[in-house]
Amino acid sequence: MTTVTLIPGDGIGVEIVESVKQIFTAAQAPIVWEVELAGKSALESKGELIPESLVASIKRNKIALKGPVETPVGGGFKSINVTLRQMFDLYQNVRPCITTAGVPTRFTGVDLVLFRENTEGMYSGLSYYDERLKIVDSISRISEQGCHRIVLSAFEYARKHGRKNVTVVHKANILKRSGAMMLDAAKEIAKDFPEITWNDKIIDNMCMQLVVRPEQFDVIVTSNLFGDILSDLCAGLVGGLGVVSGANIGDGVAIFEAVHGTAPDIAGKGIANPTAILRSAILMLEYMGEKELAKKIYKAVDNTLDTKEERTGDLGGTANTATFTQNVIKNFNSL
Ligand code: NAI
Repeated sequence: MTTVTLIPGDGIGVEIVESVKQIFTAAQAPIVWEVELAGKSALESKGELIPESLVASIKRNKIALKGPVETPVGGGFKSINVTLRQMFDLYQNVRPCITTAGVPTRFTGVDLVLFRENTEGMYSGLSYYDERLKIVDSISRISEQGCHRIVLSAFEYARKHGRKNVTVVHKANILKRSGAMMLDAAKEIAKDFPEITWNDKIIDNMCMQLVVRPEQFDVIVTSNLFGDILSDLCAGLVGGLGVVSGANIGDGVAIFEAVHGTAPDIAGKGIANPTAILRSAILMLEYMGEKELAKKIYKAVDNTLDTKEERTGDLGGTANTATFTQNVIKNFNSL
């Protein structure tokens, strides 16, 4: 049994996390959940957005599943997601975007995984304001070590998962030094992965290519800001933030998360779609080495999404969160 820190989060977080718990219990996943609060719910009950007990729990368990959290606007609150990524040096943001037969989209055959550098670039937090001139300088800090470890992660992932190509996305024609740093890392690292081909694309061309012929891409690796934008673009290719998984991974610590928000407009109504967090939990199972079980639950979710009536309302179905959950369990048991 592995103890996992479970952060239900705010809004629909509690509802979608309950769905994961029920499905994982039915599937006999070898997990013990340790529930911890974060975000608005933690602020209300413990007076802190990120309580010490949560940090201690992640340090102890080294693996967490996180629902969406609300960071109150104003008051100098720093994003909880950004804080946790920096606190645990979770430098890889991993977002698989794969077409689901039952989810209607403009494209078929999309099967890509995006690696976004998660700690540097425009998110370095370094910014200077010149009150006199009314000018802000925001520093995009890129390090050789940062480029090296994210590119290496992408190649290692490709090897481990039998993927064939890595595309490095940059803007080296204009941002010459930072772009070159990532390209240099790729040139060096690729020598140790002769079975994997690689190419590079400038970010603007990449955006165009992705919305014209997304099926040509396999593993993509890029910097923090480009990755932030591309990851949502790629999610849109396969049905949106409600169906894609996400992970923040460091050396030895990983937080898997629902990438959508707290959906305050539907919170408490019991109609939220738990697919995104469920798929993140499946990614977590894979990371834990439970590959067969992960594959089986993924298939049960796929089969549920294939049947219109079994889907939740946001995907044109008639199920609510509870019936969707029961449908996944039924489909799991019939595999
Ligand atoms: P949102 O993702 O919460 O909602 C956008 C729209 O998508 C809404 O109409 C909502 O009902 C729908 N939606 C989202 N997830 C859904 C699901 N699982 N099932 C069915 N419908 C779903 O984005 P919004 O409204 O911009 O943000 C709301 C709050 O969430 C804010 O406080 C924001 O800070 C927070 N947030 C947290 C994130 C995180 O913790 N990872 C990410 C994005 C936003």
